[in-house]
Amino acid sequence: MKIAVFGTGYVGLVTALGFAKLGNKVYGIDKDMGKIESLSKGRVPFYEPGLQEILKETRGKGLVEFHTNGAKAVEEAAVIFICVGTPALPDGRADLSQVEEVARFIAENIRDYKVIAEKSTVPVKTSYWIKRTVNLYKKESVEFDVVSNPEFLREGSAVQDFFHPERIVVGTETERARNLMRQLYKDFDVPLLFTDVGTAEIIKHASNSFLAMKISFINMLAELCEKVDADVDMVSKGMGLDSRIGERFLRAGIGFGGSCFPKDLKAFYRIAEAEGVEFPLLRETERVNDLRPAKFIYKMKRAMWNLRGKKIGVLGLSFKPNTDDIREAPSLKVINLLKSEGAKIVAYDPAACKNARAVLPELRCASSPYEAAQGANAISLITEWEEFKTIDWKRIRESMETPLVFDGRNALDGRKLASLGFEYYPVGKRPIGNFNG
Ligand code: UGA
Repeated sequence: MKIAVFGTGYVGLVTALGFAKLGNKVYGIDKDMGKIESLSKGRVPFYEPGLQEILKETRGKGLVEFHTNGAKAVEEAAVIFICVGTPALPDGRADLSQVEEVARFIAENIRDYKVIAEKSTVPVKTSYWIKRTVNLYKKESVEFDVVSNPEFLREGSAVQDFFHPERIVVGTETERARNLMRQLYKDFDVPLLFTDVGTAEIIKHASNSFLAMKISFINMLAELCEKVDADVDMVSKGMGLDSRIGERFLRAGIGFGGSCFPKDLKAFYRIAEAEGVEFPLLRETERVNDLRPAKFIYKMKRAMWNLRGKKIGVLGLSFKPNTDDIREAPSLKVINLLKSEGAKIVAYDPAACKNARAVLPELRCASSPYEAAQGANAISLITEWEEFKTIDWKRIRESMETPLVFDGRNALDGRKLASLGFEYYPVGKRPIGNFNG
């Protein structure tokens, strides 16, 4: 099948390359000339495990091409995916101007039947506006359908998630569009859930909001566990063994970040509000999350008296491991708070230093965790990169001024660290170490 994908960000590029790998002919369209040049030369412009290899393979087979002008793509494709950004406006609502721009472009170039599929996360009823826009601006009397086909892939494991989703949701109003989408997904052996369009749009926002709510729930439990000397990881395990609850997304830590959860939560409660539905659960989910970095700093201050002039090695800048994405990353808030407390910061991240320095130009980035720990009064682990688990902590201990580790993700082996002479401060659990102060 021929497919056009507008927008070559995380969702768009994974969609484009995923469908190309399955043997479809795909046109990737983006107005960002730099991105298109990079992709046309065979380089993925961001870090996502496995994607570079698929680009190489599909380009080699002539299954994917990239353009800034999508006229040919619209003409040839049977299905046109809209994967452009839907960033938050200052009041939290989604900015849909890029979606409108693509809809108008499609309208001007559509000559025969197409399925236009929204994949970007959009408010319910966006499909109505796409349909209306195409109908208003189209030059010829052609038929088309707008479907909602939300994407559930996670950064850092996007390729795996594309090929092995747990479900595929398609919101559509017509048999014709349903058949085309069924054919497109014929290689996927997972539940294919057909709904009406608005329902599919809601499923996406509801899924992200629910997962965010689970995280804020466990993070509040972590606070309670710290007060009563309970262990939040075991609470999470004990709750999660109940299959009605499930263990996943119950990992306590320094809060969720990224380009999706914070933005989608805001947009979702704005949608509810606009419809006259109060949904304070969503606002509370956000409020709990916003407080995490300050609570973390408070814990550091309690252990260190104050942070003025103290050197802090920050491990991890990306909003989660296996990505260089720092959008809404808790690390940025932690670093700003540390700075305002007068601390000196040296950070290390395996992939995200460059992006972090673009928003925090004064940030000192080390080239290894050992360099970040040199002479430090404390280490703060903010992102649980796998490589932090295999660090030579004895070496780190020897180079630090004072041996304090604040683990914002409960990623490290606290007992081992304590046996090496560290004071270890996890989230939602009793600190371990020889507290002789
Ligand atoms: C999220 C959803 O998981 C995807 O299903 C969805 O497609 C995507 O948003 C999107 O809308 O595009 P993503 O933002 O890539 O994916 O990352 P997640 O793995 O969901 O993690 C989000 C944040 O939650 C991270 O900061 C992570 O550290 C945090 N998190 C996650 C926790 O603090 N605890 C957990 O138990 C799980």
